[in-house]
Amino acid sequence: MPIEIESPEQLGYENVKYNLTESSVSDTVVSSIQLTINELKLCYGDHIGKPELRAMIASETTGISQDNVLITAGAASALFIVATTLLEKENHLIVIRPNYATNIETPRAIGCRISYIDLKFENSFAVSVEEIRASIQPATRLISLTHPHNPTGTVIPQETIMQLAEMAEENNCYLLVDETYRDLNLDFKYPIAASLHPSIISVASVSKAYGLPGIRIGWLMTQNNLLFEKFLAAKEQIFVCNSVIDEEIAYQYLSKKETYFEPIKKHIKKNKTTLLEWMKTETRMEMVDPVGGVVCFPRIKKGEQLDTTRFYDLLNSKYKTFVGPGHWFEMPDYYMRIGFGWPVAEELQQGLKNISLCLDEMRMEK
Ligand SMILES: Cc1ncc(COP(=O)(O)O)c(C=O)c1O
Repeated sequence: MPIEIESPEQLGYENVKYNLTESSVSDTVVSSIQLTINELKLCYGDHIGKPELRAMIASETTGISQDNVLITAGAASALFIVATTLLEKENHLIVIRPNYATNIETPRAIGCRISYIDLKFENSFAVSVEEIRASIQPATRLISLTHPHNPTGTVIPQETIMQLAEMAEENNCYLLVDETYRDLNLDFKYPIAASLHPSIISVASVSKAYGLPGIRIGWLMTQNNLLFEKFLAAKEQIFVCNSVIDEEIAYQYLSKKETYFEPIKKHIKKNKTTLLEWMKTETRMEMVDPVGGVVCFPRIKKGEQLDTTRFYDLLNSKYKTFVGPGHWFEMPDYYMRIGFGWPVAEELQQGLKNISLCLDEMRMEK
């Protein structure tokens, strides 16, 4: 997948000066948090996941208990578990597009039938209940949403999620809500989707909001005990249990989450203001404003008639600035994902300025 080959992790962070590709906040450094792990026993952990960690995750809401929370290796493996448990070749999936690659690539690898719900810029990337209803087939097993959405930063109203959950129940299938960016919904905290309805499966992690992608801790949640057991069985087949060190770090971090998250929130708000102000002045581009998360998906206006290959070459090589080009999400390259939570304020400002300078230079080349 291009997103894997072209990501800064693969290119080497040292080659990327202005990194606007990331979908998380800045990475947390061990010395900046208080950890005590010297007495930790490096045993196989609880297969479901460290009980205290599960209790802490569940404590945020009613309707979910620690017995409904399965700890996984990041949200990515939770998505893999859900897809491989629920989908077989003869099944059918409805999934929104663009999307985080795993939500599409794992079902493709399974070989099931897929109906894509293509979100459109012109509709503010909104999810249409009617379009999903029209796509339901007798073989549909899963409807798959991402909210807040990657790459657009849009959110799905709770009413829509409830309508889709009921639709799933009526049609004997499940609604997956990938809410990996939920804690980055700063203005309005949506309830955990799985707490709202027994047909909903929620997936999330500590990667994006807390800058902890390196400890690979995520989870899935469902009120459906039978389904939960199947997910647990899949987890056991893949990696038995989580790394006890990762679980312990996540637990200790989340115990003091409010303290650690305060400066992160300030940083995101400041950077988001920078982004919105830049977008107001950059008339060659247009954007659906992001609501949740730390990514947005603006596009260069059609009138620019840009050679996008040349544009990204110049942006990367001359301006040392990297964004996620549209093809990372199977979209045309005049779209780009900009991550505004990861860079420090100055890096974001200069990176955005560089996009404008590069557009200037492209005009001069014509
Ligand atoms: C929507 C979404 N879901 C899941 C993931 C996987 O996150 P992780 O495995 O780091 O928790 C990502 C990462 O980019 C994502 O954007």
